[in-house]
Amino acid sequence: MKMDGEQDQKRGLEVAIAADHAGYPLKEDLKNFLKNKGYTPIDLGTHSADPVDYPDFADPLARGISNGDYERGILICGTGIGMSMTANRFPGVRAALVQDAETARLSREHNDANVLVLGGRVTPFESAREILEVWLATEFAGGRHERRIQKMERLNGN
Ligand code: RB5
Repeated sequence: MKMDGEQDQKRGLEVAIAADHAGYPLKEDLKNFLKNKGYTPIDLGTHSADPVDYPDFADPLARGISNGDYERGILICGTGIGMSMTANRFPGVRAALVQDAETARLSREHNDANVLVLGGRVTPFESAREILEVWLATEFAGGRHERRIQKMERLNGN
């Protein structure tokens, strides 16, 4: 992937990350990956593989995105489905459940996704790292896509 000045600027960016027990191993792997790439992971749990309920971990991350505490977030459960359903209930949260690098890129370019959701039991760690790298490096394209996002946000009464 091309490294340019714009991407260099992103280094140091804080990225909130949270998982349930099924996403915990991938969360730990991606935290290291983020650190190695120069990002600062903000770990909102869970902190072990003991069973927990995914909404309890989606809530603080999605709430933080919604109120502007975090710019970008990553949520991981077994499939990514429960985390995305929960996160998308919060105004201003655009959580994208992604399974490959192409949809990761499009979720940023077209949908301005501010939360990346991964399935820790269905996405191999190496694919997840590639997805995350592309997702963090891709800018929102704006233009016609901006109008569509505004229409989506209006459904929340914004
Ligand atoms: C936990 O067993 C599993 O249901 C959860 O991680 C997630 O996949 C739900 O969507």
